[in-house]
Amino acid sequence: MTYAIHERDGLPVEFQTLLADYPREAWPDHPNFAQSIQHWMGAHQMFKRLGAILTKETQMFLDRNRSVDEFGGRIGFYGNQLVNNLHGHHHWEDHEYFPELSAADNRFDVGLDMLETDHTEMDKILDDFTNVGNRTLKLSQLDPALAYEEAGKLLTTTQAIETFLARHLADEEDLVVPILLHHKMRG
Ligand SMILES: [Fe+2]
Ligand SMILES: [Fe+2]
Repeated sequence: MTYAIHERDGLPVEFQTLLADYPREAWPDHPNFAQSIQHWMGAHQMFKRLGAILTKETQMFLDRNRSVDEFGGRIGFYGNQLVNNLHGHHHWEDHEYFPELSAADNRFDVGLDMLETDHTEMDKILDDFTNVGNRTLKLSQLDPALAYEEAGKLLTTTQAIETFLARHLADEEDLVVPILLHHKMRG
């Protein structure tokens, strides 16, 4: 049995024990839906927005709707935001948040392991993004034709980030929020 992110199309059913009692539609009105949980989900929204911006900026560069300087400035700024914040977020989840959840309810440890494995997988995609992005920017100063070719690869990477985030964040929330609500945590 594998829980690899590319093979999932939702939270595996064996981890949905609590989700059945706490479906997503009911979270906003639940008395245990604490501010801190909403902030955590807000961070997820921000990551998705940044992923969409990176794709849009790269597409605009490819369509010749951004100058080299404009593109360089934006992709550098938003790219750093996403990479740094996501690394911090994952580190905190792996080392503080998930252990706290496991201590409260150890029925979902395999699910939490699945999410940690996602984080490792995401690190590889983010490294790719950083490498291809830097190469694109360097080439844009040296050889525009090659820079556009490299930007095509960058687009594949930013789209991979978006696909990854959509799956990982949805599954993570579906696993974690019911545990928090059930055990009245983080209130
Ligand atoms: Fe995560
Ligand atoms: Fe997260």
